[in-house]
Amino acid sequence: MTIEFAERIRRIPVYPVAAGYDLGAEVAMLASNESPFAPVPAVAEAAQRVLTGVNRYPDPSYAALRRALSDRYGIPADRIALGNGSCDILLAAGEALLEPGAEVVYAWPAFSVYPHLAAASGARAIEVPLDGEDRHDLDAMAAEITVATRLVLVCNPNNPTSTALGLDEIEAFLERVPRHVCVILDEAYCEFALVLGDPFASVELLRRWPNLVLLRTFSKVYGLAGLRVGYGLCGSGDFRTAVDQVRQPFYLGAAAQAAAVEALAHQDAVEERVARTIAARIELETGVRELGLWTAESEANFIWLRLPDSDDAAEQEARIVKGLAERGVLVRAGAALGGAGAMRVTVGTEAENAKFVTALGELL
Ligand SMILES: Cc1ncc(COP(=O)(O)O)c(C=O)c1O
Repeated sequence: MTIEFAERIRRIPVYPVAAGYDLGAEVAMLASNESPFAPVPAVAEAAQRVLTGVNRYPDPSYAALRRALSDRYGIPADRIALGNGSCDILLAAGEALLEPGAEVVYAWPAFSVYPHLAAASGARAIEVPLDGEDRHDLDAMAAEITVATRLVLVCNPNNPTSTALGLDEIEAFLERVPRHVCVILDEAYCEFALVLGDPFASVELLRRWPNLVLLRTFSKVYGLAGLRVGYGLCGSGDFRTAVDQVRQPFYLGAAAQAAAVEALAHQDAVEERVARTIAARIELETGVRELGLWTAESEANFIWLRLPDSDDAAEQEARIVKGLAERGVLVRAGAALGGAGAMRVTVGTEAENAKFVTALGELL
């Protein structure tokens, strides 16, 4: 006899995790859009300091982190949702908003977790293809909104294709969404996007759209992926209340809270790292284009490239990804992310990027 699981367990797709976490430090980890930079020492120290008190549960109101985010973005603390990574907030949003008969609209390919929301809740997923330049087609997305729509996800910059839309386009789209439909603007990579100006620009949108949530993370630009901290800046308090209602009370550990608060105090280091990442991204794109390949206009800390046309694209993609791994470079095959024939490569250190370009050149 095997255990009998809920029917939705058969529907929920398995998240395509990257391999390689057990490999040595000499492997270039360019598969998960992490920061190649370790946290600044003060951040690691802040996390360490709280360890002597972990016989107590962490602060369930997350007061210090809420206050720090509230001070930075000028959003009241009770309109800031927190989560064990921004994924946690996404999944909670699915649970709070979706149910059989409801619809969720998002572009595809986009972040691999989005299909999970509909599968887990029994709602219908409306996946809208990207345009010819691998950008969101907001007109097509607006056309898919019906009376059943409860949630719209816009990934800007988009993972895996790295493209971003300007805020004027986002604003025009928001005009077309009914006010009772929640829009999550997933801005996991917004700090790397030149087209978005700065991370404060989209915050202005919250004044006009109470149905909007800006979803952000400490996993990318702040280099805290291993601690799992995400946040949502909300147009109204309802979203925050609802996502807290469907989760356990202590979703964010004490070390994660302390590190995130400290990380916010080191914006000089963040800005310097963003500048280095953008310079390295341009170099990486140039290197790949010099190999004769097309890359999307990246606004993120990763690039999206197309492999040459081939009679057997799947075989070519698998061969190249495997060949790169054998040469000590881990990247993500497009097929696993909804974009067969393409490849997603995180911007690493200058040395890692050069290693990738050389290895790719050998394999082509
Ligand atoms: C677009 C996007 N949103 C959200 C996340 C989730 O990040 P985390 O749960 O680490 O905050 C990711 C991670 O790769 C992402 O690419």
